[in-house]
Amino acid sequence: MTGADELPHSTTQVSPDEADGPPVGQLIEMLGPEMVLSGAAVLPYCRDWHGDVQTDAVAVLRPRSTSDVQACVRAAVALDLQVVPQGGNTGLVLGAVPDAPVRQLIISLERMSRIRSLDIENFSAVVEAGAVLEQFKEAVAAAGLFFPLTLGAQGSCRIGGNVSTNAGGVNVLRYGMTRELVLGLEVVLPDGQVFDGLSQLRKDNRGIDLKQLFIGAEGTLGIITAVSVKLLPAPDQVATALVALPRLEDVIELYRRARRDCCDLMSAFEFMPSLAIDLAREAMPDLPIPLDQAHPAYALIEISGSGLVDINSLMHRFLEAAFETGLAVDGVIAQSQAQARNLWAIREGMNIGQAQRGRHLRTDISVPLSRLAEFVVEAEAAITSQMPGCICVSYGHVGDGNVHLNVLPDFEQGPKKVESQILMAKKIVNEVVDRYSGSISAEHGIGRLKKVDFESRLPAINRQLLASLKQALDPKMTMNPGCQLDLPSRGEGRT
Ligand code: FAD
Ligand code: LAC
Ligand code: ZN
Repeated sequence: MTGADELPHSTTQVSPDEADGPPVGQLIEMLGPEMVLSGAAVLPYCRDWHGDVQTDAVAVLRPRSTSDVQACVRAAVALDLQVVPQGGNTGLVLGAVPDAPVRQLIISLERMSRIRSLDIENFSAVVEAGAVLEQFKEAVAAAGLFFPLTLGAQGSCRIGGNVSTNAGGVNVLRYGMTRELVLGLEVVLPDGQVFDGLSQLRKDNRGIDLKQLFIGAEGTLGIITAVSVKLLPAPDQVATALVALPRLEDVIELYRRARRDCCDLMSAFEFMPSLAIDLAREAMPDLPIPLDQAHPAYALIEISGSGLVDINSLMHRFLEAAFETGLAVDGVIAQSQAQARNLWAIREGMNIGQAQRGRHLRTDISVPLSRLAEFVVEAEAAITSQMPGCICVSYGHVGDGNVHLNVLPDFEQGPKKVESQILMAKKIVNEVVDRYSGSISAEHGIGRLKKVDFESRLPAINRQLLASLKQALDPKMTMNPGCQLDLPSRGEGRT
């Protein structure tokens, strides 16, 4: 198997006899029955968020502590099994879904969700990897502080998954990717040892910063069991606006002005296409849409801060100028938190609306911001000219030069054609990405879905460095093999 395009789409059901066969029995003996799920109970863990792929696993292990995780990893090594770590399983590139069901175990962090400490004066917290992002944010907010990582999946994704994917989200332009928010990590290594790096120091230049190895590693170098994070003062004023514009180029121009006029107070600047409203309505039929007419492009803007600055006036002044100069053609500023939530629901509803339409191409591209509009126009034109009947849905994080240029196939042509359309659309879009020297993964990672496209673009020296790292930390290839890169274990030839 070389890529997710070849992942099985239907489950190989495990019979009860097989489920209770040697590895499961031995796992239960080694870890106790309470920690081990097998048989049909593993199936929900083996399906990706969109439901594109349903696989299987030998078992799902559900540790409650770091020492439980050590025991799980040691048991896997002893039984010559491989480990797929899993957080909330919301990753969009199949990193947490097994691809070798008879050899792989899932280790789910879902029962490790404690906040170990929250230090208000140090603006930091230590949280276990299985904490759901939204629940963690709420606990931090209750203490009067703020954890800025914000993404549509935050009700399900878990901190360990966020760190392992170096997740982005809608606030990156102000607060950075997850990496910028991590002060320290605790990690169970592939041989069962613990890397205890839960520092809460903001500055520490004692040699190479080892925790960085595990951020964005997608579970290929170890299992993150706890994370020490930076917190911020909670903003007490937030202004949110939805603005309609004639073209994507105008959205980019509005962003340039916002960078200039809103100082460092802008916390989100997202763009959405005309279809956003329809997709959100399909997902949430009762969602109030505050603009009367459809427009070609929308910007969703958030400015936030605390203290003496008047955030609402800043948003008003900024948008008045945009209307006076004719850049913006329609818009609304939320008058309450509920209205702001509804505006964000349009953005979040888009993902659900697309999932409801059926299997489609999802991309996660970055190009230099100065070329973002040009890129989208060119890639969309390439799709519509070569693939009539397909629909492009381009949206994303303007400030980060990050666009999700998704393609909905012509569903009328039936499931088989849909698969080939997705592959063709990916090829067309990636060719344009390469011409712009862009990235095929800005924030979602590589997982199993993008492995072939990643490898084919990987310079030999990068591959050599990655292979050396993997050999040094995980010579038996225990941790999430098949994710990111196909690397042989020691003695299997090419490294
Ligand atoms: P999982 O899916 O469980 O795992 C992801 C990867 O990390 C896998 O390779 C897994 O093996 C590994 N892993 C998980 N936990 C650990 C651990 N404790 N130790 C080691 N490895 C581990 N992503 C963005 O960046 N920005 C967005 O705006 C965004 N929006 C989204 C919106 C929706 C509706 C959905 C469904 C997804 C979105 N995502 C987004 C993708 C996804 O939510 C993120 O990648 C998230 O960080 C994954 O977290 P998770 O806990 O679900 O990880
Ligand atoms: C988003 C996910 C798809 O931005 O990254 O909605
Ligand atoms: Zn995104």
